[in-house]
Amino acid sequence: MKFFLDTANVEDIRKANDMGIICGVTTNPSLIAKEGRDFKQVVAEIASIVDGPISGEVKATTTDAEGMIREGREIARIHRNMVVKIPMTVEGLKACHTLAAEGIKVNMTLIFTANQALLAARSGAAFVSPFVGRLDDISVRGTDLISEVAEIFHAHGIRTEIIAASIRHPMHVTECALAGADIATVPYKVIEQMTRHPLTDQGIEKFRKDYEAVFGN
Ligand code: E4P
Repeated sequence: MKFFLDTANVEDIRKANDMGIICGVTTNPSLIAKEGRDFKQVVAEIASIVDGPISGEVKATTTDAEGMIREGREIARIHRNMVVKIPMTVEGLKACHTLAAEGIKVNMTLIFTANQALLAARSGAAFVSPFVGRLDDISVRGTDLISEVAEIFHAHGIRTEIIAASIRHPMHVTECALAGADIATVPYKVIEQMTRHPLTDQGIEKFRKDYEAVFGN
């Protein structure tokens, strides 16, 4: 499983990119609004940092296919790595179909069932984003959805990549990797949590003490 960073914060993107662990970034309207910066400017800056797929979503106020197609073409023009993120609706599927036929990559987002994922794949989406954490929030096991989608895509030879989204903690990451997600898009905080283990800290401290006792610092 590969990692994308789920943020529009360029400092966090630089930190994760410097570790060499991410190969893409996803944004959404809430994440863009949180940064309070111009959409095109921020995604262009992200694309200049990370050399991989960068998802930029159509406006949260655009609900018709025509509007999504128009905006999708504009987003694709920002940088060769841009992926157009489109919400899973009937209009979204129409937009996905048109954009995919033009060679523009689409990430179909807000996926909560295997059927939605299958429809998105059949309309030409390069990526689907099933939301794990938001399902857990309503007492439905989000990682079960990842397993279902992975099994269906495998059984039918579908090459659309599964981005496990709405990742809230390190266990989500492990479970999504086991469930067969191609990618997990993860907040920077979760990446940091994943690096830690108390025995690692204790080990570093013991090595330091043992070394200093003989050689000084
Ligand atoms: C997906 O691409 C979304 O940006 C994201 O993962 C949503 O996560 P949330 O449910 O924590 O807002």
